[in-house]
Amino acid sequence: MKGHILLLGIAVFALGVVSALENGLARKPPMGWMTWQRFRCITDCNKYPDECISEALIKRMADLMVSEGYLDAGYDYVNIDDCWSMMERDADGVLWPNPERFPNGMKHLADYVHSKGLKFGIYQDIGTNTCAGYPGMRDFYEIDAKTFAEWEVDFIKVDGCYADAVKMVEDYVLLGEIMNKTGRPILYSCSWPAYQEEEDIIPDYETLKKTCNMWRNWDDIEDSHSSVERITKYFSDNQYRIQPHSGPGHWNDPDTLILGNYGLSYEQSKSQLAVWTVLAAPLLLSNDLATVTPEIKELLLNREIIAVDQDPMGIQGRYVQTIRNIEIWKRPILPKVKEVYTHAIAFVSRRADGAPYAIEVNLVEDLGLRINSSIKGYKVYDLFQTDRKPVFVRANGTFETRVNPTGANFYRFVPVVRNTRYGKHGSSAGNSV
Ligand SMILES: *[C@@H]1O[C@H](CO)[C@@H](O)[C@H](O)[C@H]1NC(C)=O
Repeated sequence: MKGHILLLGIAVFALGVVSALENGLARKPPMGWMTWQRFRCITDCNKYPDECISEALIKRMADLMVSEGYLDAGYDYVNIDDCWSMMERDADGVLWPNPERFPNGMKHLADYVHSKGLKFGIYQDIGTNTCAGYPGMRDFYEIDAKTFAEWEVDFIKVDGCYADAVKMVEDYVLLGEIMNKTGRPILYSCSWPAYQEEEDIIPDYETLKKTCNMWRNWDDIEDSHSSVERITKYFSDNQYRIQPHSGPGHWNDPDTLILGNYGLSYEQSKSQLAVWTVLAAPLLLSNDLATVTPEIKELLLNREIIAVDQDPMGIQGRYVQTIRNIEIWKRPILPKVKEVYTHAIAFVSRRADGAPYAIEVNLVEDLGLRINSSIKGYKVYDLFQTDRKPVFVRANGTFETRVNPTGANFYRFVPVVRNTRYGKHGSSAGNSV
């Protein structure tokens, strides 16, 4: 215990000099796949051989990540969530995977995942037990950090069940310091904000940024559009508090993408994808990659949307306003043209009244886009219909979009430089229309 307190002192001192965790990881929102939402804690491999949390499942998904093109598109983590370990530690306190479900051990599985060009993630809990009741890390931080480093783990989600919501912060900080000392860069995904918010405690975002590469802000996602809507609402209601803290190396995490499962229609799938992309969210899929339909797969592999999510500035977007029950969400991205950012803008319908619903918006008043003397308007690219030609909208003009019930439209608004043939600004031909 003394050792822990000493380490914590050093950690706090060392972290005082930097503003964020600098382990070189998660410079862009992490992308990959994760077991929890689709496969939960299924452990009966006799009854559910294709779904139980096991070496076979992870290998099957790793193979599909490559063969279905997800790795090429940027999804490179394959993460096991809860329910992988034995119910007891061994005599030395070391945690082992369940031997029936992981017959060759975790190092073997990590090697397999790495051999595919993918990264390997695992799950633990800061408290005495994981949420599903498996052994937690408490009192075993050093042993587990060493074990994970030996297995060559690349990502760890550390949950917050069976722990005190206030005290867990210093435990997370301590664990981060211990993991750092292993010398293996491991992406650190924390959960303490979600547990603190449940108890109406405002998380200390400065400590979060110094400690974690990403963190779950709020409730677990479930397989329904209403769950996506609730999380979306949390992010708009609280955006002035949480949005400023997201950025390269440290991200807010609204939880996994549920596209490809049972709960979302095609339109609702577009809605989750667009909002998560505006939020600069980690794009972690939790589905069975073997049964994702071609239309949904096309959404998940949409390179232009992925490029928005992965924009190098890493600025989380914001909810702007609601016009006739269509929410407008907006995120600044590159390129910047004459001091004006490009923006990704989503129109997210909360309407269920039958027909597609059209709204007409002003660029400046309704969308809050900037115009200056060098910018004559915006070229608008449809991110869900990437084969469509962009439309030009004048600075003082309006843009009309028609959104399907419960769905979303998503666009990239690129500033267009005024034609300056006789002007003083100078212009690159590529920017003029
Ligand atoms: C440990 O922390 C230092 C200081 O922030 C950092 O430079 C280094 O990359 C970290 N190492 C690992 C393995 O995370």
